[in-house]
Amino acid sequence: MVRAAVLLLGLVAAIRAHVAPPTLNISLDEDPDVRWMPLLKVFDVEYLKKAGAEVIDSTVPKWVHHAVAPIVASLEKYIPQPYAGEIRGMASHFGGSLADVIILNFAYEISAFCTSIIAQDKNGHVYHGRNLDYPHPVLRNLTINVIFLKNGKVAYRGTSFAGYVGLWTGQSPKKFTVSGDQRGSERWWNWWKNLVSAFLLRRSPVSWLVRETLAEAEDFQDAVMRLSKIPIITGVYYIVGGVRAGEGVVITRDRKGPADIWPLDPVNGGWYRVETNFDHWLPPPAWDHRREAANKALNATGQDHINMETLYQVLSLYPVCNGITVYTTVMSAAAPEKYNTVVRLQGCTHPD
Ligand SMILES: *[C@@H]1O[C@H](CO)[C@@H](O)[C@H](O)[C@H]1NC(C)=O
Ligand SMILES: *[C@@H]1O[C@H](CO)[C@@H](O)[C@H](O)[C@H]1NC(C)=O
Ligand SMILES: *[C@@H]1O[C@H](CO)[C@@H](O)[C@H](O)[C@H]1NC(C)=O
Repeated sequence: MVRAAVLLLGLVAAIRAHVAPPTLNISLDEDPDVRWMPLLKVFDVEYLKKAGAEVIDSTVPKWVHHAVAPIVASLEKYIPQPYAGEIRGMASHFGGSLADVIILNFAYEISAFCTSIIAQDKNGHVYHGRNLDYPHPVLRNLTINVIFLKNGKVAYRGTSFAGYVGLWTGQSPKKFTVSGDQRGSERWWNWWKNLVSAFLLRRSPVSWLVRETLAEAEDFQDAVMRLSKIPIITGVYYIVGGVRAGEGVVITRDRKGPADIWPLDPVNGGWYRVETNFDHWLPPPAWDHRREAANKALNATGQDHINMETLYQVLSLYPVCNGITVYTTVMSAAAPEKYNTVVRLQGCTHPD
């Protein structure tokens, strides 16, 4: 009896440990200033303010925050649309200071660790999965699925955090899917450099380029071109999946252009690609076993058995999923309705 009860408790805990985030419809036909108002149906304004302050405190030292706030606010005129309007609207409707909402949008920009996987099954179906890791638990409560609508139809969708206008994960239906993984280890003092470079040199933050690509690219190839070439503020890995066999690639980005393009190569056994936060042609640091664990699990799964479910299982294995994993998304552009995100309320721990 006791044992059964313990098992049951364990089961309940396991179920509660993974939940679907809220889904919001954001209409691109509305003015940027007001289009994020649906956030208020899901979040309490006071909670959003408190959570935002926590993220800022953990990312930017207090004295820097005080010193830069007025300068950041004055940079607002350099932010391109629609982001400027969206950021201004969030600040005025949700009661944060403009500087803080801008800082938040750049704070997330610097420390997203991740694992992304692109894979193709024996029938040529392409699957794309990603874990987003970030060392702040409050993001689990801020994770949202966002559906961007234009003329009442789904233009594109993605997974993001309340208050954030960029996308690290997204899907253009029947066209392509994208995820971004941080490249290299940025530090908070680079955050400042990134912001200046974004506004004065007109380089795009990496998550804004993802959103723009989802909004504008015609197809997989067009998306790969844009994500390879358009200047961005910092290095990153873009992982892109398409709708046809062979349409899958890991783009290693420098600020100015591509450092490397690593496509699927199913004919020669390359039916999947795993990207974490290190250049794929170099060994990862000895302390980081995510890449090896994912490769091993994919090999064990085999191309015969890869699908949305098994890809999700690979992304659930420790340490691919780990203590700071915030959410997991699996998607396939050819089957856009299957887009699925799960929030890892407690992260994942070593099985022992
Ligand atoms: C979001 O928009 C879609 C497409 O118009 C619609 O089917 C769905 O019911 C909407 N969901 C919410 C929560 O408003
Ligand atoms: C997240 O939300 C839950 C439920 O509202 C709350 O108990 C928890 O403390 C929150 N976590 C953080 C890190 O804010
Ligand atoms: C996975 O399989 C490939 C191809 O057989 C092999 O080169 C690679 O070493 C394997 N990786 C792991 C971690 O088992």
